[in-house]
Parts: sequence; C-alpha cells; structure tokens
Amino acid sequence: MRNSTVIRESWPTSGRLAAWPAGVLIAALMALAVAGCAGGDPLVGLFLYNEADPYILEFGRQILGAAPSGFAIKKFDAANSQPIQNEQIDNFLDRRPDLLVVNPVDRLGAYAIIQRARSAAVPVVFFNREPLAADMALWDRVWYVGAKAIQSGRLQAELVIKLFGGDPAHLNAFDRNGDNVIQALILKGEQGHQDAEIRTREVLHSFEERAFRVEVLALEIANWNQAEAYEKIHHLLRQYQSAIELVISNNDAMALGAISRMRQNGWFNDADGNGVIDSRDPDWTPVVGIDGLRAAEQAITEGYLYGTVKNDSLSMALAIIELAEFLLGRRSGSSLSATVEDGRYIWVDYTPYVYQP
Ligand code: BGC
Repeated sequence: MRNSTVIRESWPTSGRLAAWPAGVLIAALMALAVAGCAGGDPLVGLFLYNEADPYILEFGRQILGAAPSGFAIKKFDAANSQPIQNEQIDNFLDRRPDLLVVNPVDRLGAYAIIQRARSAAVPVVFFNREPLAADMALWDRVWYVGAKAIQSGRLQAELVIKLFGGDPAHLNAFDRNGDNVIQALILKGEQGHQDAEIRTREVLHSFEERAFRVEVLALEIANWNQAEAYEKIHHLLRQYQSAIELVISNNDAMALGAISRMRQNGWFNDADGNGVIDSRDPDWTPVVGIDGLRAAEQAITEGYLYGTVKNDSLSMALAIIELAEFLLGRRSGSSLSATVEDGRYIWVDYTPYVYQP
C-alpha cells in the first residue's frame, strides 16, 4: 500500500503515461517547455516538507534568492505533514499556476502529487526527497533535482579513512584502544528516506571495500533532528564512554546535537591547554556529518566537528531555477548549466569539507 496519510479522494488515479525513453535529448525537452505564461509573471509554487529542518530552511532561501525578478514564487511549509502538503498543492492548483517545485514530505506522496499535477497540466520539479522511479515515470513533465546519496556515504568514509591514517592494517592513535578496529556510533536520518538508507549503507560498505574494520557499537534513528540526536545519544555516551572512537551522522543537524550532548557530558576538553579544541587533545572524538550547514562549518572551525560532506543546496537551487526558466519558456534547453540525465534528473555533486587552516 502507498502512504496511507495521503488524501486520496480528490486526487485522480487515471492510468499511467509512458515514461520518457532513457537518454532523451535536450531538444526533446525543449518541445515540452511551456509558453503559457508569456503575458504576465509566471506563478510558481514552492512546497517545503518542513521549515523546522535547518537544511530545508537554508535550501528554501537559496531557491528564493536564486529566482529572477518577474517570478512570482509562493512558498508553503507543510510542517512535516503530507496531508497538509496535499491540501496546499490542491488549493494552489486552483489558482492555475505555471509550475510546482516540490520537496515532498513523504517520497511516496509524490505519486498523488504527480497525478494531481498531470490532471491540471502543471509541470512539477521535485527536489531533496526523490520520488520512486515508477512514480517519476507517471508523466513526462516531472523532473528531479538532487544529489546521489551513494556519493555522500563514500565521501564520508573517505574523510574517516584519512583521519585514521589511511592504512587498514595500522590505524593511527585515533584508534584509542589500538585494536585496529574503529568503534563507532551511527546516527541515522528518517527511515525510508533515500538519503538515510543509502548513506548508512554506503559509508559502511566503503570501509569494507577498503578493508577498514568498523564495529558499530550502536545505531540510533534520530530523524535528521538535532534535538532528537541530543536526547538519543545520551545513554550511548554513558554506555560506551571512551570506547567510542567515531560518531557517524547522516546529517549535520544530528551531528551538532550529538556534539552538544558530548560537550555537556565532558567530551571535547582543551586537555593540552593550547587554547583551542583540536584533534591533538587526547579525548577529542571525531564526529562527521553531511550537508555543510553554516552552523556545521562554524563547529568545524571551532574544532568540535571533524568534517562534513557538502550537500550543495546552492547549486541545486540554481539548477531548479534554470530548469524552471526553461519550463516556463524563458531559457533555452541548451543554456542549462547542468546536464539533464535520462530526460528528467539533474544531479549535483557532494564535496568533502574539513578544517583548512
Ligand atoms: C539532508 C538532511 C535533511 C533531509 C530532508 C537530506 O538530504 O541531508 O539534513 O534533513 O534531506 O529531506
């Protein structure tokens, strides 16, 4: 069954349309560009799953900031409720908009959104929460702008491997108990979210591929949330104490939550008295995140967060706006900066970020 929280009654469920063939060219994309708004300012709806999520808050601001003048963008916050988002989209479609830009609450909720948009003939650009490929294939005027979670898990593992000296047979002093195994805690994002599932799997898989042994002492699901990570890591810190050699977090918000609790519980002291918190302090414990939030960059500069992997919302926002301009007939397909893969996907690279003095 699909997401049972989706309001279904007013959402049409007519048969599937064929997907675009893989590798379709920009020229074919151009045929789909709409010129319907040629007269006035185009009306675009921006639907965010939850502005209480700092990554999404920053992302929404980047999209609004990147929009050219003459775009009427109306922003909605679903406060983490798919039924609310469905209602927001339904009401907005009554205003006969030109485009929907949607960060779905539940990736399975995309099915109903696509059906509804298709019956109103309004194209949709999804971002951050990737709809199932089968749902993307429901209509040929659906796009996705995102980043490949597999890359973020791999880069996160690379950061850790570098810190521990790069040689699986001889870990350096960050392997505190000298057993050549990295004892780690994992903070996982929301179950079922493509990024949480793939990042967790891939970071561990990358260690394995490189012959690094990692013992997962515990894995906690903290739903991308700083406060939840702060609460949930408390008993793990007590239980495992100095056995913890690494904290891997699926995102920065949870990493920051873990760090606040670690600081409160006595971790991260300037033990060598050099006036800064850094990896030379004997009890310094590496925490790695993903996203590159401003607060995370700050924590990296201060020495609490070892590193992060930038989930480049600025580049994704620029790609969304360029795609929107194209779909609204204000830009040619050949002038898009990003490559459109399989006719409907734009992928932006993750990049590692650690302290560089
Ligand atoms: C980000 C998380 C965010 C989530 C929201 C992920 O790509 O890394 O920080 O909470 O998207 O969907």
